[in-house]
Amino acid sequence: MCKKILAGNWKMNTTIEQGISLVAALIAGEKEIPAHVQVVVVPPFTHLHIVHQYLKNHGIMIGAQNCAAHAKGAYTGEVSAEMLASVSCQYVIIGHSERREYYGENAQILNQKLAQALRVGLTPIFCVGERLEEREAGSYFAVIASQLRETVAMLNPSDFSKVVIAYEPVWAIGTGKTATAEQAQEVHAFIRKTLAESFGILAAQTSILYGGSCKPSNAAELFAQNDIDGGLIGGASLSAEDFLAIARAF
Ligand code: 13P
Repeated sequence: MCKKILAGNWKMNTTIEQGISLVAALIAGEKEIPAHVQVVVVPPFTHLHIVHQYLKNHGIMIGAQNCAAHAKGAYTGEVSAEMLASVSCQYVIIGHSERREYYGENAQILNQKLAQALRVGLTPIFCVGERLEEREAGSYFAVIASQLRETVAMLNPSDFSKVVIAYEPVWAIGTGKTATAEQAQEVHAFIRKTLAESFGILAAQTSILYGGSCKPSNAAELFAQNDIDGGLIGGASLSAEDFLAIARAF
């Protein structure tokens, strides 16, 4: 059975004070989180150390939103995977559509980032997903297959077994327009099938998360689908009440 994961991507939101109150509210509600669900908070880099101080005696884990493609050195403004591991991050999001779109991250860069994350023992949450025009043109399977084949499908099986996939249709991110449970399930099953071509049975154990306008009102239906193993939540993860409600939806 795949691990159930609920990750909250705060994106570029919250000051330190706001971040701390959000984490404090999650700790206060931690007992509401079902025992079989691993909750991960993914704050901005500046918050990771202090958030870890708050979470270290709790079951909630921390992740980062990005990491550098290089191990260390003269890369002003970058944060290495090793630095993230040193502040007790366990997860790192790689290939988010916002990174692909606004920062030109292509398959080559993403492969370097995957290698860096895996080298230091971070679990990559690797994102794929089609744009609106690709959905409307009916080319979304081809788009997602190539996003997978150029990146995670090239890992060795041992590294691949550590990777979590997130399906985030770009047209559903921050738009309030969620994929229906059927649309999401269709793509999740396709992702699993595509990964099985490279990794066989390992694909059955890969956690595949859904992301894109997931909220308390639609989470239960999404998580009830066979191939949906959790969520990568943006906007709704900025409210402890909503995020905990989504956790209860598993
Ligand atoms: P929203 O939940 O705000 O649509 O964002 C999804 C997302 O991009 C999470 O990484």
